[in-house]
Amino acid sequence: MRHCERLVDSGRRAFFARGAAVAAGAAVATALPGVPARAEPPLALLVYPPKRLANVKSLQVDAPLVIAYPDDDSPGVLLKLGRPVEGGAGPDGDLVAFSTLCPHKGFPLFWRADDRTLSCPGHYSRFDAERAGQQIMGQATQNLAQFRLRVDAGGDIYAVSVDELIYGRLANVRES
Ligand code: FES
Repeated sequence: MRHCERLVDSGRRAFFARGAAVAAGAAVATALPGVPARAEPPLALLVYPPKRLANVKSLQVDAPLVIAYPDDDSPGVLLKLGRPVEGGAGPDGDLVAFSTLCPHKGFPLFWRADDRTLSCPGHYSRFDAERAGQQIMGQATQNLAQFRLRVDAGGDIYAVSVDELIYGRLANVRES
């Protein structure tokens, strides 16, 4: 047996031995009577800051408004599309907001009213604003991050969360 094959083989044995020990430990932990069960570790939870973006009265169809969410380093756009769409908010269900950083390499996207896409000048990815930022062509491998919106009784529009990872980040909300 060559040297590298022996190393792989011993690594494999160590892996399975550790797995068996962990499984045995888990079985013991759940089998002991009178021992309180350990609490599950908390799930990772991102708490998004709600942010007021605009009022519905200030928006016009196909007139994009430049925004930033969840912080000033994350540029985006708020759009009134003029007809109800997937994920659309507001009285007409036509308000959507997206990151304008291309998920491929972070080029700034621009709005194309003719085909209702956010398009990338870098490598020509395009994202459908009427279908929740779905990628319809190009080199990106992720749909566009959409900012979820809430509209209050007075028509104020708030961004409240993000549905995909914003380009260049390991988490959308940074710890302060
Ligand atoms: S940066 Fe947008 S497609 Fe490459």
